[in-house]
Amino acid sequence: MIKLDYRGIDSSIVGEENGLDFNVEFERYRDKISHIIMDLNKRKDKPGQGLQWMNLAYREETLWFVKEYAAIVKDRFENILILGIGGSALGGIAMSEALLPPYWNILSEEQRKGYPRIFFLDNIDPDQIYSLINNIDLTKTLVNVITKSGTTAETMAQYMIVAGILQEKLGEDYRKNIVVTTDKEVGLLRQLANQEGYKNFVIPDDVGGRFSVFSAVGLLPLALLGIDIDEIINGVKDMDLALKNTDISHNIAAQLALIHYLLDKKKHKDILVMMPYSSRLRYVADWFIQLWAESLGKNIDNDGNTISAGTTPIKSVGVTDQHSQIQLFNEGANNKVINFIRVEEFDKVVEIPKIFEYTGIGYLGGKTINQLFNAEADATKFALIDFKRPNLTITMPKINGYYLGQLLYLLEVETAIAGELYNINTFNQPGVEQVKNYTYALMGRAGYEDSSNTLIERLALV
Ligand code: PA5
Repeated sequence: MIKLDYRGIDSSIVGEENGLDFNVEFERYRDKISHIIMDLNKRKDKPGQGLQWMNLAYREETLWFVKEYAAIVKDRFENILILGIGGSALGGIAMSEALLPPYWNILSEEQRKGYPRIFFLDNIDPDQIYSLINNIDLTKTLVNVITKSGTTAETMAQYMIVAGILQEKLGEDYRKNIVVTTDKEVGLLRQLANQEGYKNFVIPDDVGGRFSVFSAVGLLPLALLGIDIDEIINGVKDMDLALKNTDISHNIAAQLALIHYLLDKKKHKDILVMMPYSSRLRYVADWFIQLWAESLGKNIDNDGNTISAGTTPIKSVGVTDQHSQIQLFNEGANNKVINFIRVEEFDKVVEIPKIFEYTGIGYLGGKTINQLFNAEADATKFALIDFKRPNLTITMPKINGYYLGQLLYLLEVETAIAGELYNINTFNQPGVEQVKNYTYALMGRAGYEDSSNTLIERLALV
């Protein structure tokens, strides 16, 4: 199982003003945490609670349909292209980057065992889109359009560009290159999927984008790449079982949530640094940033009070960012909690040859890159402690589907518990919707005319 070491936040290590006496705090919050966990597990089966993501691992039919479709289209396409943004893209990016061999797209077809290359288009940068559509053969590409709302302008625009090219090149047959993942009823993409007869997968009700990674949103791209999705789901189920424990002493999601909440509220640590010591996990940090930011960044609490909740998540990748951000983490404002993710055993061991022994770099020869990597992570932790910076470490035994499933589910439950501690609605995103609505208005979508006129006046002023 994944482990958590939170000794680096203890006040005896980082000082009273920066740390917590976690024994005291765990005792103080024991009943509240137990109540929160019971309540989440009770509410998860009720409609309208936004908690259906807690049941995704048990939807056997999704696994079955995803695997069946992946088997049918295997060998038919050279590329997979994912169109989506935010929660509709980040989970797939995080899991595929973690589980595929690095540099997948430049491996030979044989090295990829016949599985396709993968491209995620999670932005609408014109230069990026132009380069992609002109450099991959879209006729040999399976395009997975993912959007929960089925209306997001960015994804719809990408889809129109790609579908237009496919229609031109393939005529009626273009539909075979499109698979849609969206809501079962609502949204413009749902209408189009029904009209055009696209193969489609459903994002279940009450599963928000950022909590959709274990639905077809995240699982279909992985299955198309030959990744064992059962292994991931087994990890989720085992973690789910562990996190049903209502005793904070045995529930690492509750420990993480409470630690971050209290360090924010009591010690003013309002920046959460997610720092994996693994390049393969760098996009897990991106996925987490969206999860944490959109879930907890809320202005109004459940009782109507203005609270401006949420700590700011940022990404830092070990060891790369030791040479970028660590100076600030060690000596800048002491307002951060560093959340390391460590990997106990890497898939490969890379040796450093015993050469140049007569020079100052000779000490590295005969050791492994793995040793150096671990030494760097330990060194960073020691330095943070010297500078009294609170930190904690999540350890994964290995990077595989099983432990990745555990990790992502752990972070989802941590976020949900933190939301309960802040007493907010973790599952809405009015701040995101406001921007989406303004975009619709500015782009002339029907029904947004009033807002459009006001915005045009405002544009003249700012
Ligand atoms: O988590 C969320 O709900 C959002 O970040 C969405 O995923 C994002 O806005 C994209 O929305 P949609 O999937 O509806 O296109």
